[in-house]
Amino acid sequence: GHGVYDAGGSYCQRGDVCCHGRNDGCTVPYHDTLCYCDLFCNRTVSDCCPDFWEYCLGIPAPFPKASGCARAGRNYPTGATYRENCNLCTCSPGGQWQCEDHACLMDGELIDAVNRGNYGWRAANYSQFWGMTLEDGIRYRLGTFRPSPTVMNMNEMHVRGLQPGVLPRHFDAAAKWPGMIHEPLDQGNCAGSWAFSTAAVASDRISIHSMGHMKPALSPQNLLSCDTRNQRGCSGGRLDGAWWYLRRRGVVTDECYPFTSQESQPAAQPCMMHSRSTGRGKRQATARCPNPQTHANEIYQSTPAYRLSSSEKEIMKELLENGPVQAILEVHEDFFMYKSGIYRHTPVAEGKGPKHQRHGTHSVKITGWGEEQLPDGQTQKYWTAANSWGTAWGEGGYFRIARGVNECEVETFVVGVWGRVSMEDMPHK
Ligand SMILES: *[C@@H]1O[C@H](CO)[C@@H](O)[C@H](O)[C@H]1NC(C)=O
Ligand SMILES: *[C@@H]1O[C@H](CO)[C@@H](O)[C@H](O)[C@H]1NC(C)=O
Repeated sequence: GHGVYDAGGSYCQRGDVCCHGRNDGCTVPYHDTLCYCDLFCNRTVSDCCPDFWEYCLGIPAPFPKASGCARAGRNYPTGATYRENCNLCTCSPGGQWQCEDHACLMDGELIDAVNRGNYGWRAANYSQFWGMTLEDGIRYRLGTFRPSPTVMNMNEMHVRGLQPGVLPRHFDAAAKWPGMIHEPLDQGNCAGSWAFSTAAVASDRISIHSMGHMKPALSPQNLLSCDTRNQRGCSGGRLDGAWWYLRRRGVVTDECYPFTSQESQPAAQPCMMHSRSTGRGKRQATARCPNPQTHANEIYQSTPAYRLSSSEKEIMKELLENGPVQAILEVHEDFFMYKSGIYRHTPVAEGKGPKHQRHGTHSVKITGWGEEQLPDGQTQKYWTAANSWGTAWGEGGYFRIARGVNECEVETFVVGVWGRVSMEDMPHK
């Protein structure tokens, strides 16, 4: 064969070896074998290291320099590419692989650093995030605009007559209202958490407030495609706009209007479902379900949403009495890798530079709370919340996060709502 004809690269030079005469030990590692840097190789050529002539003899190699790059014992032509996680590597004309230098959404070093660091939670490598950049994660996996100052200043509802003593140490909405708390959703690569968290909270609240008579899983797609005033579908949206739509127009179930914007699509999908008033404050759909298998196209509405104070106890009281609440959450790079435990933002990415430390605004559904005794005797309080990254992420689609310290702003903007449930929606005797 032709033996060692490589794109070049540094072998004799890097090993700093050039041997005179025959010396079978004068070798350096070459891919998965060896090449020679002794004068004897000059006669057989085929086993000389590619840089032998230039480095050891100071003359050009006796064959045209092959172009291409080596990888795992094979040679690839100029322009060949391969992916290393979120970075594309290209074989340059100089015979070197040149790789992009993006921060990746899944980063083995950060996962190890979290798991070694005793932060109270574990990190994992998610295959659905592997290969994405951190920037893409923030661009495609979140999707809630920060509430404007006006909305932020919305009057807070204060729960009156609050006696902290009555709050249990653990609370799980699914245990108090069995069958009425809907599974965590999956927004895919659609930056529409504004629609997902709103649909999730409204679904649970309507189920609870109708005492289980109605248990709709409401349609995020209905909001994404039809609530378009100042909203940007899978490119982000506002919570106040979503609640306005749910109150004034209402939405159908997810079964009727299924999620189809799986991949971040720049072009918005047309709205397939409008509603019109039937009087008495109720509305009905103007079209059949986009899913032809489903006939039930009832419109579900809510009352105006209300903002809770950022007080931990008031949020707990609201959860306990009325059901899950919606909260914004500032998502940092390490949150994507969350697997289990009580999340707190860690400093693991700090040593890697600013590119690796990014954050964006998201929204989630808080469903409960609890506390855990740490080995040092301290008590760690937490919220339990449903994310919208599918049930394979975190603790079955849920995560726990430190409570009472406004971790990642989770207590900054918390919203409750009432389902619009009238007597005729209630069970008849
Ligand atoms: C090595 O090879 C080159 C090119 O083929 C030749 O010119 C030179 O004389 C050789 N040197 C030895 C020491 O064999
Ligand atoms: C993470 O998962 C991907 C695909 O599931 C795998 O190819 C990769 O090697 C894993 N990386 C680490 C650091 O575990």
